[in-house]
Amino acid sequence: MADESAKLLLPNGNSIDLPVYRPSEGFDVIDIRALGKEGYFTYDPGFMATAACESKITYIDGGKGILLYRGYSIEELADQSDFTEVCYLLLTGNLPSEQEKQEFNDKINNHTMVHEQIHTFFNGFRRDAHPMAIMVAVVGAMSAFYHDSLDINDPEHRSTSAFRLIAKVPTLAAMCYRYCCGHPFVHPRNEMSYSENFLNMMFSMPSHDDKPDPVLVKAMDRIFTLHADHEQNASTSTVRLAGSSGANPFACIAAGIASLWGPAHGGANEACLNMLEEIGHVDNIPEYLDKARDKNDPFRLMGFGHRVYKNFDPRATVMRTTCHEVLETMNAHDDPLFQVALALEKIALEDEYFISRKLYPNVDFYSGIILSAIGIPKNMFTVIFALARTVGWVSQWSEMISEPDQRIGRPRQLYTGEKQRTFVPMEDR
Ligand code: CMC
Repeated sequence: MADESAKLLLPNGNSIDLPVYRPSEGFDVIDIRALGKEGYFTYDPGFMATAACESKITYIDGGKGILLYRGYSIEELADQSDFTEVCYLLLTGNLPSEQEKQEFNDKINNHTMVHEQIHTFFNGFRRDAHPMAIMVAVVGAMSAFYHDSLDINDPEHRSTSAFRLIAKVPTLAAMCYRYCCGHPFVHPRNEMSYSENFLNMMFSMPSHDDKPDPVLVKAMDRIFTLHADHEQNASTSTVRLAGSSGANPFACIAAGIASLWGPAHGGANEACLNMLEEIGHVDNIPEYLDKARDKNDPFRLMGFGHRVYKNFDPRATVMRTTCHEVLETMNAHDDPLFQVALALEKIALEDEYFISRKLYPNVDFYSGIILSAIGIPKNMFTVIFALARTVGWVSQWSEMISEPDQRIGRPRQLYTGEKQRTFVPMEDR
């Protein structure tokens, strides 16, 4: 199985041959598992150079700006496919035939409604609760409702749970929004596409019967597609780790949602909108650019730069076009917030500081603007991200559970606490 080996000289004078695997894309991987038997651990906080699993789902090359789902580029998928087709691809490994796609969509539609008792569950929350707080709770609570698909060792159960999650998370996400606004819940409409149905559940009113605008439906679908998976990031790794103990899929996805909630992960597009509001007017941009360039000022232009994509973010390239289409459709080019965004994009792309550091707008810059133009409030942005990423989490969880030699995840540590010492009775302390 190993393609070659790496020799490691240990501090105790022994040397050990470690197998090296050659992946289909990306860096070679050294298998360090034998080190434990030699009395050594490796130290890698934040998993900067550690592959925690083998996966066939998503590949990223940050240097070249490549993102592939099952080998297909994100640009081609965003242009020529749609979100439910991407769901099929992520889950099964291949693009569906026309018939397979129809059957897949029918199956999702079969599961879009949530148990009526879940409606009353919402009443326990304050109306001003953060929608992510409600999402963590209601997705976790699904394990209390769907007992007939909780056996993770049964492939049929796993598949049913996967469909339930992909189909019901949009319903729950829209319910979070409606509950927080005090609007009545809207039932799913199965004659609509996945993304159209979501926008309908978000915005439709019993008093009038407007269907979502096709340009907005397409933009929503693209946002879902671009966020569907991103390899072994924090929330996906959380789902895998939770699932490795045998926890049910609803509990694992709730754990993923909790991890996504953090501002360092799913909260960047919300932060970008906050910054645009703070800048407020095009005339104030130079002041904020000065702050961003100033080494002594912690301010950064939110929505610019990326940890992994160091030349360009392929998702941002796709989102840029959609962003302009949406602003056009919503007649929002004159809105001061979007004027700030467009001027900032232009100035930063021409500014020496940003060019020399390869800081260009990332996917969150454009997705924040699009979501805001559609009328989605900032506190729902991370919920939308969670909705889109559910299929990625479920695919990665399924892949892990199907591994024949799957084991519980159990990282080790570099212990720097007290050595063993004798208990001191209370009177002697
Ligand atoms: N504004 C101003 N200067 C910046 C920015 C920025 N947004 N980002 C990086 N820099 C500067 C940084 O000060 C440094 O300058 P110098 O070389 O003079 O010291 C240089 O660029 C390199 O920065 P870095 O901190 O080494 O880059 P990083 O890879 O550690 O950080 C980042 C990546 C995304 C955390 C950072 O660019 C940033 O904070 N961006 C704003 C937040 C944001 O938009 N995050 C969303 C990313 S997309 C989310 C996703 O894919 O899930």
